[in-house]
Amino acid sequence: MADLSVKYMGLDLSNPIIVSSSSLTGTVDKVKRCEDSGAGAVVLKSLFEEQIESEAEQIDDESWPYPHPEAFDYMRQMGMRLGQDEYLKLVEGAGQALSIPVIASLNCVSPRWWNSYAEKLAGAGADGLELNISIMPRDYNQRAAEIEKVVIKIIESISRRVDLPIAVKIGPYFTSLPNLAVDLRRAGAKALVLFNRFYQFDIDIDKVELAPGYRFSSSHEIHLPLRWIAILYNQAGCDLSASTGVHDGSGVVKQLLAGAAAVQICSTLFINGFEQIGKMVEEVKSWMEKNNYNSITDFKGRLSQGESENPEFYERFQYIKALVGIE
Ligand SMILES: Cc1cc2nc3c(=O)[nH]c(=O)nc-3n(C[C@H](O)[C@H](O)[C@H](O)COP(=O)(O)O)c2cc1C
Repeated sequence: MADLSVKYMGLDLSNPIIVSSSSLTGTVDKVKRCEDSGAGAVVLKSLFEEQIESEAEQIDDESWPYPHPEAFDYMRQMGMRLGQDEYLKLVEGAGQALSIPVIASLNCVSPRWWNSYAEKLAGAGADGLELNISIMPRDYNQRAAEIEKVVIKIIESISRRVDLPIAVKIGPYFTSLPNLAVDLRRAGAKALVLFNRFYQFDIDIDKVELAPGYRFSSSHEIHLPLRWIAILYNQAGCDLSASTGVHDGSGVVKQLLAGAAAVQICSTLFINGFEQIGKMVEEVKSWMEKNNYNSITDFKGRLSQGESENPEFYERFQYIKALVGIE
């Protein structure tokens, strides 16, 4: 019988499938459904820095389009009014109701608020903390390195204050991801979540106005995180969790072969319902049995760059192979 258990950021998971942060993990009832459907862990929906700031100011139409898809989701579609205390209650309630690990999530754009609040989350019973750091470069005088510095500073200051394992969820638009990954690990990150999927921007040409793009990912979007998991596996020095484009069991297997310690899912649950979790667990299990793998460590990272015969040509070979024959 295949054993699907994994260790992720020091936490024991019965299987590598984590329900990622969204409104699907925003109430105790919903996260209980995730557990009952077979999830290995849950990441609660994020508390936004702006939520704390905006207790005074209403976020109005002027502020749209918002830089983060999830902020948009909260503020516009669900009338986001979940304050800090309510979030602590969610963490507490989920911790009491669930036996799988519960990871709290903060969406940060600066280090200023979070130190003391992160301590409270630990006190409320979170098993881990995921920091979704989505800084949108808008300032024409700000260099890429300065943005990276802000991200690193947030991790440094929070990891100094809390004992919880910290995962950092970032977007794919960094110029030198391997270098940043190592800096984030040094700053205290136990895991990297690759990647956050940003709000999709669109234009309605009939109304001649801005419009939100499709909110959910497609399975074709797996390739970008897959590449970076394969490149960073065993090199960055921390666990890697895949996010974006994993819609079925084969997507989970691919990410594990690339080197993911855990795999996060979101859009597929909006599309297929919570029961998709159990189906995916079963698909991974039967793939392992068919290929005679008893545990995930037997094959994790097998197709990563580090495990390839020619790591220095890993990407280049695939690229050339893909182009040959398409004249
Ligand atoms: C409706 C919706 C709400 C989301 N809310 C959050 C959030 O609060 N915090 C967060 O870190 N990510 C949030 N995300 C991003 C997801 O956690 C996930 O990273 C992204 O959807 C890519 O994964 P997927 O391809 O499995 O959907 C949200 C996504 C959707 C579709």
